[in-house]
Amino acid sequence: MKLWGGRFAKATDALVEVFTASIGFDRRLYRQDIQGSIAHTKMLVRQGILSPTEGEKIIAGLQEIAGEIERGQFTFTAAREDIHMHIEARLQEKIGPVAGKIHTARSRNDQVATDLHLYVKEETAAVLALIAELQGTILHLAEKHLGVIMPGYTHLQRAQPILFSHHLLAYFEMLERDWQRFRDCARRADSSPLGAGALAGTSFPIDRHYTASQMGFSSCYRNSVDAVSDRDFVLEFLAAAAILMQHLSRFCEELILWSSQEFAFIELDDAFTTGSSIMPQKKNPDVPELIRGKTGRVYGNLIALLTTMKGLPLAYNKDLQEDKEPLFDTVDTIKNCLTIFAPLLASLEVKEETMERAAAEGFANATDAADYLAKKGVPFREAHRVVGNIVRYCLEEEKGLADLTLEEFRRFSPVFGMDITGVIQTKSVVAARESYGGTAAGQVERALKEGWELLAQKQEKPGP
Ligand code: ARG
Repeated sequence: MKLWGGRFAKATDALVEVFTASIGFDRRLYRQDIQGSIAHTKMLVRQGILSPTEGEKIIAGLQEIAGEIERGQFTFTAAREDIHMHIEARLQEKIGPVAGKIHTARSRNDQVATDLHLYVKEETAAVLALIAELQGTILHLAEKHLGVIMPGYTHLQRAQPILFSHHLLAYFEMLERDWQRFRDCARRADSSPLGAGALAGTSFPIDRHYTASQMGFSSCYRNSVDAVSDRDFVLEFLAAAAILMQHLSRFCEELILWSSQEFAFIELDDAFTTGSSIMPQKKNPDVPELIRGKTGRVYGNLIALLTTMKGLPLAYNKDLQEDKEPLFDTVDTIKNCLTIFAPLLASLEVKEETMERAAAEGFANATDAADYLAKKGVPFREAHRVVGNIVRYCLEEEKGLADLTLEEFRRFSPVFGMDITGVIQTKSVVAARESYGGTAAGQVERALKEGWELLAQKQEKPGP
């Protein structure tokens, strides 16, 4: 007999049972479901809707059920549809008809929304900690290789030399925004829908603020229809996750490029790479490739739920059951990716000399030769043209800018003086970029210091 079976003259078709069941995935919410039910029961007792003895029986039964599930002694079946029905039906087996009182002034609609809010809050806290850990790894790496110069790229063409640490710290900043986004998302999830009932509220004298505070929520939904219809907090989590994966994926793409023989800027640790079944020489960057690849499913999960939500009339519709699998998959995926990324980064070998050699080649100092002329009063456009001509000359002569004599420079402009040689050294080129947020050592050291300060603040005040 179904818990809702009273109105039905026929048994549910077996196909329907299997088709509508969510127990295969929503069993993951059992802890949150029991937590919500305990808070609800306490409130019912407090408000005189249940007797204290009834409340005690229900709560003791719920706690036993939590233990059974944890020990793997709980039977799941499609006939009981979802986690809410499973727990209530089991409670009935354990304590008899009084179990039926637990659903007073409650609907599965506000129940499932409550479970999901608790779940998103918890998982967001876990994700925030993992992001902060990865940020710490980046700061360590940047600190370890402070002073190492690499070519900075635009269009994947060598552009201007920068500190390797400066490049790494760009990822620190991206992750900082991710951290802020998840924290923001946790704030919105921090609101209790419990007590909204099916959609309209309830005629029982409940206390929604009490249940909210029992579950650790700092507020309640103001509108009962909104409370059971809203999945914005899930969408926000999925959107924050999609942007996070975009960042990890770009970082991975660079690690893959840099570890190719063509770049050879880094070498990934043996423990974080894999071999080929046919080519004995191969050492493949499977881990960054997989992170890059998994970005697709995380984007897909966001689009899936956005599409499910589009056009849903208020309030609850069974379509909303489709919110869970994308959310769970994204939670697992981003936690796995963040967890493996930190030790992967911490263990990589940086080939400092190859990077510096690459930075010295490819005319990455050409802007500085033009800036030199501009600082001596030549309009920048003119300076740009002059240096462009010099680069063409160098290409013909197979020389770098730093190989030219003063006499050669002067053939292109009489403004060049002895000091040009110092200005276009790779080290001077980097050191000169002292503008706020630039790549000069002083700026990068400040960014590092501020990065550590940001992380320390998170330690003091983690979570949302
Ligand atoms: N399994 C359902 C879900 O995930 C729980 C809510 C069911 N509510 C209902 N009115 N059928 O959304």
